[in-house]
This record gives sequence, C-alpha cells and structure tokens, in this order.
Amino acid sequence: MPHSPPQVIRSIAELRQVITAARRAGQRIGVVPTMGALHPGHLSLVAAAERECDLVVVTIFVNPTQFGPHEDFQKYPRTLDRDLALMSAHRVDVVFTPAVEDMYPPGAATMIEVAGAAEPWEGACRPGHFRGVATIVLKLFNLTQPDVAYFGRKDLQQTLVVRQMVRDLDVPVEVRVCPTIREADGLAMSSRNAYLSADDRRAALVLSRALFHGAELVRGGEHDARRVLAAMHKLIAGEPRVKLEYLAIVDPVTMAEVGQIDSLAYAIVAARVGTTRLIDNEPLGG
Ligand code: PAF
Repeated sequence: MPHSPPQVIRSIAELRQVITAARRAGQRIGVVPTMGALHPGHLSLVAAAERECDLVVVTIFVNPTQFGPHEDFQKYPRTLDRDLALMSAHRVDVVFTPAVEDMYPPGAATMIEVAGAAEPWEGACRPGHFRGVATIVLKLFNLTQPDVAYFGRKDLQQTLVVRQMVRDLDVPVEVRVCPTIREADGLAMSSRNAYLSADDRRAALVLSRALFHGAELVRGGEHDARRVLAAMHKLIAGEPRVKLEYLAIVDPVTMAEVGQIDSLAYAIVAARVGTTRLIDNEPLGG
C-alpha cells in the first residue's frame, strides 16, 4: 500500500512542534537513528517501528563527532533523495535531517562518556567514537522523545553503549535491537559496503564465513573459545586482502572475552578490506 511521503524537517524548532503535538495526542513515538545511505538493514528497523508505533521518526545525520580525524566523515555517502525513495515503501511520518551547525552550535561543550562496554574493541580502535555516538544519540532522544528507539545488532557494541547510557542517565526510552540483515551471500549490510571494489567485496565474504563457521563449531559441541577462534583465524588468514583489527568471542553484556562458551556469547570481528573498515558479529551458543 503506498504511503504518503514523510514530512522532512531540518529545524529543531519545527521538530519540537511535531513531537509536542504527538505527545499531547498520546501517540507512541518510535525513532530510528541513522546516518542515511539507507539499506535493507535500516529498513528492517523502520518496519519494526512502523509495526509498533504511531509516529515513526527516522533521523538522518552524519554525525561528525563520532568520526576520527582520519576517518571517512567527508566521503560518507549522503543520499537523501534515494533514502526518501527507499522509505516510501514504509509509513515514515517524519525524517529529521538537521544541519551540523544546529546540532553542534558554537559553544557546545558537553559530551557523553560511557565507560566499561565502550572501552574495548571499537572503543580502542576508534578513540572518541562512542563519545560521539552517545552524545548524538542522547541529543536525538531529547529532541524526538521516543517511547522506543531501534538499532541494528550489526553494531553490537553501539547497542550496549546506548543501553548503558539509557540506564545510567534514566532516559525514558525502550531500546530495541533488531537482527543483522545480510546479503544473500552472507555479507552484513552496511552503508560502507558501497566503498568496496568487486575484489574487496568478494574478499569481505571471509568475515561472515568465519563467523558462521565459529557458530557451527559451537553448535557441534566445541565450547573452548580459543579453539573456535583458531579455526576462524585460519579461514581469515587465507584471504590476503583482509587485514584483521580484532577477532574475539565476548560476553553479550560486558564485551569481555570469554574462555568457555557455556551460554550466549558473540563472535565479533573488525577488519580492513582494501581501504574499507568493516565490522560484523554473530551469536554463538546460548
Ligand atoms: O549507527 C549509526 O548509524 C550511528 O552510529 C547513529 C546511531 C545514527 C549515531 O550517529
């Protein structure tokens, strides 16, 4: 069924009016925070919000504070028209796409720092990344006042950081984490896949293959994390275009490495494929 196009809002004042009216009318607000360059992974979050909420807000903001100085902020794909076309299959009520100067006006001096789960892995490889994520996510929560916020499990550590922040700062929002959506050949959907050359795209498949192999070993009764990791490392080492940043099996709440896989754990991976940095994860056991 065709849906009417969303209201595209750039100004904070205008967004506040729409949100205030929705709250007054007792509507259940769902927010899907994104940086745009939407793919079926994002659309699965939109579909969940559409099912569960009266007012669906998608935010599109390429957030400068979560990119390191040598990262891809400048070249990150900005494809608003295409994003709006993709959303037309869904009931999206509002697309909030503010300017950087409005989100970070001169003099802005407050950042949100989450310790613990934000420190290892992505936190160690990308210093300051989660400070930027937590800050923008809290600002987007304050602006959109959602009952429910939708995130993809593909960014597993991000979901833990957001949950921790919500708990610690008493943010009245339910954080919903939806499964990773993959291409038919296993590659986890990501806006950064657009950077991959054909050869890199083929090479990148070793990451999901290694994760699936790990999950299969655990299903087959192997509970020793070291042995599972060794088998995964062996697969990835066979693909010279892939430079591993980390590969680990971690606790789903603390992100600490586990030695024995006796309950739910996640295999997590980050690697450079050519010049593109990719992350992925897969649940094991549990
Ligand atoms: O996952 C993302 O796209 C971003 O980190 C988020 C949550 C929209 C914050 O900028």
